[in-house]
Amino acid sequence: MRVLLRTPSRDHRRAIVALARDPFIAQWTGPPGPNADLRALLLWDCRLPRVPVLAGFVHLDTVQVEGGFSGAFDIAIASPFRRRGLGLAAVRAAEQALVSAHDLKEMVLGVHVDNEPARALYRRAGYLEVQTIRAPDGREARLVRKRLTTSSQ
Ligand SMILES: CC(C)(COP(=O)(O)OP(=O)(O)OC[C@H]1O[C@@H](n2cnc3c(N)ncnc32)[C@H](O)[C@@H]1OP(=O)(O)O)[C@@H](O)C(=O)NCCC(=O)NCCS
Repeated sequence: MRVLLRTPSRDHRRAIVALARDPFIAQWTGPPGPNADLRALLLWDCRLPRVPVLAGFVHLDTVQVEGGFSGAFDIAIASPFRRRGLGLAAVRAAEQALVSAHDLKEMVLGVHVDNEPARALYRRAGYLEVQTIRAPDGREARLVRKRLTTSSQ
């Protein structure tokens, strides 16, 4: 199985709009930033000559920080595909896509304190919780950060 991040087709865009309304996803993800780059997260079984399946979506973004830009992303996995390692694969694919498009040294994300699945995912992916912040919706969140080195990507 391979996970691919692709610019969504028109059909995928429609499916992503529906997926973003899933209450479990909607409670943790806000509207994307004005410059966010939407990607379809496709699951492709290389052994079978089948069309890749839409398993989720990712918004790729950058945020301005002191001394430059950091990468940021928002991931959502459709319920039938959760707990199969796709979230982790999506984090890695998002990091690679951002690093190949921009000269980035780190990733910086916000995650709601009560979003235990996402906090656990980011811990697994090597992110450190560095600060308590207010999310744009006013709820408490943690800022998580990962410095990128060749070996961590
Ligand atoms: C967070 C989310 C992307 C995780 O996707 P996923 O495909 O289920 O994640 P994975 O299967 O790759 O899990 C990787 C690790 O994350 C942790 N994790 C994932 N889901 C978890 C859960 N429900 N409870 C506890 N830990 C969890 C585990 O450590 C897991 O490793 P393990 O399965 O070996 O124990 C998914 O739950 C989701 O789409 N949530 C709604 C949207 C969202 O919250 N996005 C993040 C916004 S900041």
